[in-house]
Amino acid sequence: MNLILMGPPGAGKGTQAQRLQKTYSIIQLSTGDMLRAEVASGSDLGKQFKEVMDSGGLVSDAMIIAMISSRIDQDDCKNGFILDGFPRTTPQAEALDQMLAEKELKIDHVIEMKVDDDAMVKRITGRFTCAGCGAGYHDEFQKPEKEGVCDQCEGGKFTRRDDDIEETVRSRLQIYHDQTAPILDYYKDKGVMETVDGMAVIDDVTEQMNAVLG
Ligand code: AP5
Repeated sequence: MNLILMGPPGAGKGTQAQRLQKTYSIIQLSTGDMLRAEVASGSDLGKQFKEVMDSGGLVSDAMIIAMISSRIDQDDCKNGFILDGFPRTTPQAEALDQMLAEKELKIDHVIEMKVDDDAMVKRITGRFTCAGCGAGYHDEFQKPEKEGVCDQCEGGKFTRRDDDIEETVRSRLQIYHDQTAPILDYYKDKGVMETVDGMAVIDDVTEQMNAVLG
C-alpha cells in the first residue's frame, strides 16, 4: 500500500506517519528528513539545502524528484511507503505519477489533514525530537512519559529544528497555500483523496486514518 499524507507544516504528517508505518509495515519517506540528513552530513549540497530550508522556501523540484525516485527503488519500500512532505508542487505531483507508472506502482490513498493555520504555529514552535531515534514530541501535546527520556529508545538528548521559529513557520504556511494546496484538486480529480480532521487529538487522528485505510 502506497500513501501520501498532505497537510500544512505542523499538520501532524510526521507524527501519523511514524504510527502508520508500524501498523501497516510500510516505510515513511519524509523529504524533510532526507534533506536534514544531507544538511547534517556537512556536504556542499547540504549547505545549499540549509539556506533554502531556514528561509522557509522550497528546494528545487528536480533535486527532490531525483531523491524520491532513487529512494523508492530501495528494498525497504517493497511493501509500500508513506510519502510525508512530497509532492509539494504540481510539477512534483506530475513527476511522481510518471515515475510510479514507470516502476509499475501507484498511489492507493491520499489523506489530507485539515487544520487551522494559527494552531500550527503553536504546534511547531513546541516540537522537539529524540536525537537518538527521531521520535517526535511536543512540549504540551505529546510529552515523553518520563521527562527528559525518550519513550522509544530511552535516550536523553533531544533536538529542535532551525526552521521551527515563528517567522519561518508563517512563510512555510504561506508557501503551502500558494504552491502545495492546489495539488489537492489534482488528487480529488483522480478520486483517491480522503480528508481527516487534523485538529482532533493525536489518537483520534490515527483512528480516522485507520478507518480510511480499512
Ligand atoms: P518538512 O520536514 O517536510 O516540514 P513540513 O512539511 O513543514 O512539515 P512539518 O515536519 O513541520 O510538520 P508535520 O506535518 O510533519 O508535523 P508533526 O507531525 O511534526 O520540510 C521542511 C523543509 O524542507 C521545507 O520547508 C522545505 O524547505 C524542504 N522540503 C521538504 N520537502 C520538500 C519538497 N517536497 N520540495 C521542496 N522542498 C522540500 O507535528 C508537529 C508538532 O505537533 C509535533 O510536536 C507533534 O507532537 C504535534 N502534533 C501532531 N499532531 C497533533 C495533534 N493532532 N494535536 C496536537 N499536537 C499535534
